[in-house]
Amino acid sequence: MTTGIRLAGLRKDFGATAAVDGIDLEVPAGAFLVLLGPSGCGKTTTLRMLAGLEHPTGGEIRFGERVVAGPGVALAPGRRDAGLVFQSYALWPHMTVRSNVEWPLVVARTPAAQRRERVEEVLELLAIERLAGRYPGEISGGQQQRVAIARMIAPRPSVLLFDEPLSNLDAKLRVETRAELLRIHRATGATSVYVTHDQVEAMTMATHVALMRDGRVEQFGPPADLLDDPASDFVATFMGTPAANVLDAVVRNGRLDHGGTDHGGTDRGGTDLGPANGLADGTEVRVMYRPESLWLSSAGAGGPVLRIAFAEATPMAGRVVVTGVVGDPARRVRVSVLEDRRPAVEPGDPLLVALPERPDRIFDAATGRRVDLVRAA
Ligand SMILES: Nc1ncnc2c1ncn2[C@@H]1O[C@H](COP(=O)(O)OP(=O)(O)OP(=O)(O)O)[C@@H](O)[C@H]1O
Ligand SMILES: [Mg+2]
Repeated sequence: MTTGIRLAGLRKDFGATAAVDGIDLEVPAGAFLVLLGPSGCGKTTTLRMLAGLEHPTGGEIRFGERVVAGPGVALAPGRRDAGLVFQSYALWPHMTVRSNVEWPLVVARTPAAQRRERVEEVLELLAIERLAGRYPGEISGGQQQRVAIARMIAPRPSVLLFDEPLSNLDAKLRVETRAELLRIHRATGATSVYVTHDQVEAMTMATHVALMRDGRVEQFGPPADLLDDPASDFVATFMGTPAANVLDAVVRNGRLDHGGTDHGGTDRGGTDLGPANGLADGTEVRVMYRPESLWLSSAGAGGPVLRIAFAEATPMAGRVVVTGVVGDPARRVRVSVLEDRRPAVEPGDPLLVALPERPDRIFDAATGRRVDLVRAA
């Protein structure tokens, strides 16, 4: 039995702070929903409301047809058929691994024979059978994390809630445990909600991503949508490894002009970034370029060229992300270019970046929202 999740107008105020500021979203049964976003955007608060550890100030949470929290409804955590693993997982130190995993079944009054069978099953699923007789103090941090997950899934909850469950693991174990969690999610058929600020985790695990910002959902959809079709410049600069580049520009004579005027409005001869798609002159926009849309060039490539000061080169999957900064000290912007090899330059040296004829996306500077949806024919 599986359960979809629906949040409607969900909010949580802590005094004057709106930790969660009105969230509407819905995922079907069996979904793997990732709540993604920068520190303080309301991920944990949302998850705690799902778990029943926090009561919403407004709105409603449904698991399937059941309202679990809302006006006049506050189902206790133990009655939500939901399992929970937090960043700091508290195993019972005086109980063996086996007893820890068995504990929720004891609480649920599962008959002893069934209990034993289920415990063996989940110990095997998480590959921790051999640790069954040990105490939490006698196993590694990563193993403890797996025990916590085994304990969570033992009673077969139909909703699994995770708050950065992998943050204490080293890079390799993280990748392995990530795969394990996905396997468990699929094997249990549960609906999972997974909080992280690591977007690689989000991209590899999610069926649905909600990218949060200041207590709201900035964009919600399949992970590929957020990468391919960012709804705002915030999404564009948050998603992707490396994230997309965003530059300020102003529409002048029907063209996108970058850096053409300083704050005082003095003309300094800017870079023409292409046609403005019918936007009115004077409109302030932010234009986006994916790192793979740019290339390093020697002068005279023909198209628009940006001058950057080299900052660093980061190897990535056989290629190199070359990053530099552009602009005056008051508004320095990082620009990343995907290249085949590291340029022979030192930090601070100038590099020329060639731009395509038009940016990948144009956003309104005031609202952050896309304005290039209607293109000139
Ligand atoms: N119990 C509380 N009392 C007052 N303010 C709180 C409380 N819990 C959270 N907040 C505030 O609500 C906002 C959202 O916090 P939350 O813990 O949900 O963020 P988060 O997205 O999980 O961040 P992180 O990635 O750092 O864990 C923050 O501004 C935080 O300071
Ligand atoms: Mg948090």
